[in-house]
Amino acid sequence: MIDWLVTTIPIFKVIHIAALVMWCGGLLALPLMLARHDPALVAEDYRLIRHATHITYTLCVTPAAVIAVIAGTWLIFLREAFMPWLFAKLAFVALLVVAHAWIGHILATAAEHPEDYKPPHAFLPVMAALVPMIVILTIVLAKPAFEWIVFPDWLLEPRGGQLPFDVPSR
Ligand code: HEM
Repeated sequence: MIDWLVTTIPIFKVIHIAALVMWCGGLLALPLMLARHDPALVAEDYRLIRHATHITYTLCVTPAAVIAVIAGTWLIFLREAFMPWLFAKLAFVALLVVAHAWIGHILATAAEHPEDYKPPHAFLPVMAALVPMIVILTIVLAKPAFEWIVFPDWLLEPRGGQLPFDVPSR
């Protein structure tokens, strides 16, 4: 690998960690903020909650998620981290993204139907985000070898199969 690219690893790691702190912190804070919404709220309280959750989701949490994923993707190639722990981590990152989308859905529904929508108790969306976060952090810090996972030969060797259409000779 080109030397100067390797020297950028700490920079991408700092960006990755700073962004995921903002992403994860926001995913824990948003359900607590949304739980304060109640169909019986007065207009001024509704405006405050709507404004704060909208700004937090669209200007902080979602951009931070995008930056964390982009920096993490760079790190895969810079650190050549094609290991089983990375694939296990990515499976739980996918769950975190589902929790992110669910919290966004709660936010949008509370905004569109303020008079008749009561957001779920904060415990559920907080746990939906917190459990993947804890598993991801455990995996990424311990980097277990997962030696007990044995991949079948057909996943490890080229099969020499032909594509179902003609390809150029080179
Ligand atoms: C698509 C999303 C993500 C990708 C592709 C990704 C990828 C990576 C890679 C390749 C590394 C470098 C590992 C090394 O240097 O050995 C890393 C570091 C790290 N990641 Fe992620 N990551 C993602 C999301 C997350 C999330 C959501 C969290 C936490 C909730 C997280 C926590 C960390 C931590 C704490 C480190 C530093 C670990 C260390 O240096 O030993 N990552 N990530």
